[in-house]
Amino acid sequence: MLPEPLLAALRDAQHVCVLTGAGISAESGIPTFREAQTGLWENYDPMDLATPEAFLRDPELVWRWYRWRRDLVAEAEPNPGHRALAELEELVPKLTLVTQNVDGLHARAGSADVIEFHGNLFATRCFVEDCLVEVDTEAEIPRCPACGGHARPGVVWFGEAIPGQALDRSFAAARDCDVFLSIGTSSLVYPAAGLAELAKNHGAVVAEVNPNPTGLAAFFDHAVAGNAGEVLPELVSGLRGAP
Ligand code: OAD
Repeated sequence: MLPEPLLAALRDAQHVCVLTGAGISAESGIPTFREAQTGLWENYDPMDLATPEAFLRDPELVWRWYRWRRDLVAEAEPNPGHRALAELEELVPKLTLVTQNVDGLHARAGSADVIEFHGNLFATRCFVEDCLVEVDTEAEIPRCPACGGHARPGVVWFGEAIPGQALDRSFAAARDCDVFLSIGTSSLVYPAAGLAELAKNHGAVVAEVNPNPTGLAAFFDHAVAGNAGEVLPELVSGLRGAP
């Protein structure tokens, strides 16, 4: 059941900012990172796969892991949580959707302007020139067609900077919004995890949606314990005035 004060704040909001994490794609069958037994990091050490050093050490292994994730995502479908956020765009004057996910499911669900804080699984960049490139990613070690250097997945790795425009837009939205929803994230990875605090410090009502309360749960005005695929459609129904 959604707290009425949260629904009231959403009804009055001129600008809603939403941050999503792997949890919103869990109901699409995509593993999260840190959940025991099922999370990606349960079977892999992120430092072996998601850093520039790991890539240079073993580009073939890293590409194998990202091709496996691409195949997983290509078979997945947006779930009711993704679709509810696409609907939310029509119900509030302004919605800024920031995702830490690289699976592209928000766009496939119909969200119009998704800020991809950690890049996109299906983008490929030249490791040397850091520009987007089109390559045959089925090659064992894809190469940049221009310089012949390594091509790499277009995602942000540990220790790398967030794309400048994504960072600026996300921080501006957190400062400006009236309501900030943190959905399906463990709130452990900064700077994304700092957006909620920034929003709250600028007067926003802040809420999290997560079946497992995070370390920031006490900080939020509302910590809604539940799955995104169930809570978000209920939130949209509540805004539409449906019982
Ligand atoms: P995590 O795996 O750290 O956290 C996923 C969160 O989703 C957990 O808090 C779960 O309780 C919650 N969850 C699980 N099922 C859910 C559901 N059905 N509905 C709502 N929530 C659910 O993933 P992230 O917080 O996204 O960074 O991780 C943040 C970043 O750490 C990722 O973007 C990635 C990773 O390293 C990079 O790759 C740079």
